[in-house]
Amino acid sequence: PTGCKLIGSGSAVPSLLISNDDLAKIVDTNDEWIATRTGIRNRRVVSGKDSLIGLAVEAATKALEMAEVAPEDIDLVLMCTSTPDDLFGAAPQIQKALGCTKNPLAYDITAACSGFVLGLVSAACHIRGGGFKNVLVIGADSLSRFVDWTDRGTCILFGDAAGAVVVQACDVEDDGLFSFDVHSDGDGRRHLNASIKESQTDGSNGSVFGDFPPKQSSYSCIQMNGKEVFRFAVKCVPQSIESALQKAGLPASSIDWLLLHQANQRIIDSVATRLKFPQERVISNLANYGNTSAASIPLALDEAVRSGKVKPGHTIATSGFGAGLTWGSAIIRW
Ligand code: ACO
Repeated sequence: PTGCKLIGSGSAVPSLLISNDDLAKIVDTNDEWIATRTGIRNRRVVSGKDSLIGLAVEAATKALEMAEVAPEDIDLVLMCTSTPDDLFGAAPQIQKALGCTKNPLAYDITAACSGFVLGLVSAACHIRGGGFKNVLVIGADSLSRFVDWTDRGTCILFGDAAGAVVVQACDVEDDGLFSFDVHSDGDGRRHLNASIKESQTDGSNGSVFGDFPPKQSSYSCIQMNGKEVFRFAVKCVPQSIESALQKAGLPASSIDWLLLHQANQRIIDSVATRLKFPQERVISNLANYGNTSAASIPLALDEAVRSGKVKPGHTIATSGFGAGLTWGSAIIRW
């Protein structure tokens, strides 16, 4: 059997900073409401020549440098995103831009805010069952491009970012991906989605084949029932982490850090309380970046690693949750 270990991290955010006060100029809201209900104070948003692929390449480059792995030694690139620059997938373009020249496999994973955890699961499966050696797992999203900036119920929550880790094959004794617990429930889609718009013809284009050809499609802005998503998160995330801990054979008290998808500080606090994690063992950078979807976990991990908070050998309970609905937890060692 083969083990998998995390050997490098990196992250990138766009330069444009939008504060709560900035948002108060475009929708009926204020800093106090946003900060007390969500914990968010600022977020970064793509502008000008920014692209999601550009952010992903920057984050991945930093992760490769920390891991001391050359691009040509990467044999798999997993781009976890729900907002790719190209509908057909962004991972092959990232592979090309990074100079991963040995023709590795590169593909996208679409699972919204759970994308990064599912990327870790996929990396582990490819390493343990497929003989892959060095896997780049990137979580990157630009939900700002799918937000209705006139809807104060959603536009205050989201920001753009990319985060990345390198997962490497190792001896099983050095394994650092201890266990996973992953779920989805398509029923919950009604609470959170960004659906394709109706694409049927209306007959006005002179079609002689009924509904053919279809109109060109586009996607609606994010639709969310915040209360239902909140309820789902505080119920399912503790259960999932407990299940992952059980599979790993570790009690919560033995875990150094709780690192949740950064969606809402009240969700983080509620899960920490249920799992009896004291505040000082909870990682949060939500105030600075808002909800960055698939990027939030690797972005917060990278900051915690680079600031010296997370040290080699530390164990982390992490959990992603969001649209789909999807949710999943992992117990990992840095
Ligand atoms: N500023 C000021 N007032 C506001 C704002 C705002 N930005 N937004 C809503 N309000 C008002 C509402 O209109 C409502 O007013 P009313 O009482 O007069 O009707 C009042 O504030 C309360 O609104 P609620 O929606 O009930 O507020 P709630 O406490 O539920 O907080 C929030 C809303 C922050 C969205 C919360 O429900 C939440 O964070 N849910 C989880 C959302 C989440 O994490 N989503 C992302 C999942 S990740 C992914 O996959 C994309």
